Amino acid sequence: MIAFKWAVLSAFSVAVQAGTILWNGSFSQFSTVADFDKWSWANQVGPYQWYIHGSQATSHYLALDTSYKNPAISSESHGLKMTIDSGATWNSQMERAELIPQTTANLGSGQQYYHFSLKRSATNAPDSTLEHQIAFFESHFTELKYGVGSKPTNLVWMIGGVEKWSTPFTADTWFNFAYDINFSSSTVGLWASTGSSPLVRVVANQAASTSTNSADFHVGVLRIVNRNPPEDWYWSGVYIESGSLTTTIGTGSSGSPTGTTPVTTPTTSDPVPTSTVETTTTPAGPTQTQFGQCGGNGYNGPTTCASPYTCVAVSPPYYSQV
Ligand SMILES: *[C@@H]1O[C@H](CO)[C@@H](O)[C@H](O)[C@H]1NC(C)=O
Ligand SMILES: *[C@@H]1O[C@H](CO)[C@@H](O)[C@H](O)[C@H]1NC(C)=O
Repeated sequence: MIAFKWAVLSAFSVAVQAGTILWNGSFSQFSTVADFDKWSWANQVGPYQWYIHGSQATSHYLALDTSYKNPAISSESHGLKMTIDSGATWNSQMERAELIPQTTANLGSGQQYYHFSLKRSATNAPDSTLEHQIAFFESHFTELKYGVGSKPTNLVWMIGGVEKWSTPFTADTWFNFAYDINFSSSTVGLWASTGSSPLVRVVANQAASTSTNSADFHVGVLRIVNRNPPEDWYWSGVYIESGSLTTTIGTGSSGSPTGTTPVTTPTTSDPVPTSTVETTTTPAGPTQTQFGQCGGNGYNGPTTCASPYTCVAVSPPYYSQV
């Protein structure tokens, strides 16, 4: 990974929506976590499908609070704390808590930007010895991972299972992202920032097997090993826009509840990271990446797994793994 320098820009930029909102996943739309349970297959209401979770009450996995949001996002009244533990298994032994957009919008055509902000705390911190998949699509054409590779304590951004960029996943820092997806040209790039700083492009668009059925963007976390200690993941500022990218995060305070966020200094230069684009080539061919689905009812994606993985039945569906 090549070192990345966060852009430091004025925190007083005006929040102007540059694109058209296709789907709004703001947690302001939920008064209590019980609201997530209003959605069901028989009653598909609200902005999120909520079915990928363990068997306990929703309040075991989800919680809403003002302190759980990126304070820079003034349009959002509260953020989401998402907890996984050994009681979070769904459809496999993996620990999972994932929200899926509930919408009739087409989230898989033209140019779209998938926005979200992510944080961890030092309490119930994610275990960096275990692999996590975060904010992923069912085909895993792009996603974040944690607990992988040579920098397990980094948040790692991937295209088709190949690492493209990473940053240390420090506690009590809001990491803002936008997946820059051109479904017309089948490319994806990444924009990122921390706190209230505007998004900057950290990886230019590269070839990817971009596709979504508009109901397979997983706003959540999958930990592939089931162990007991709980982990808390914090989410804020989730939305998808088309057209132009909104780089501003918001007009709210940049201070963090714990007071550990460095003070930003307005500057007019160096808004772009020095060099962040890796030259790794994207693997060709219809092979499935590790932990990608490779079989099961109604599945019509790749069934051949990338070396050295094989397709393993994990009480269907089937996943590519050693
Ligand atoms: C999404 O919805 C919330 C609540 O209705 C609203 O405040 C916000 O401006 C909307 N847009 C975005 C980008 O979050
Ligand atoms: C997306 O891809 C299409 C087809 O290649 C291209 O015409 C368009 O300019 C691209 N959009 C952006 C924002 O790069």
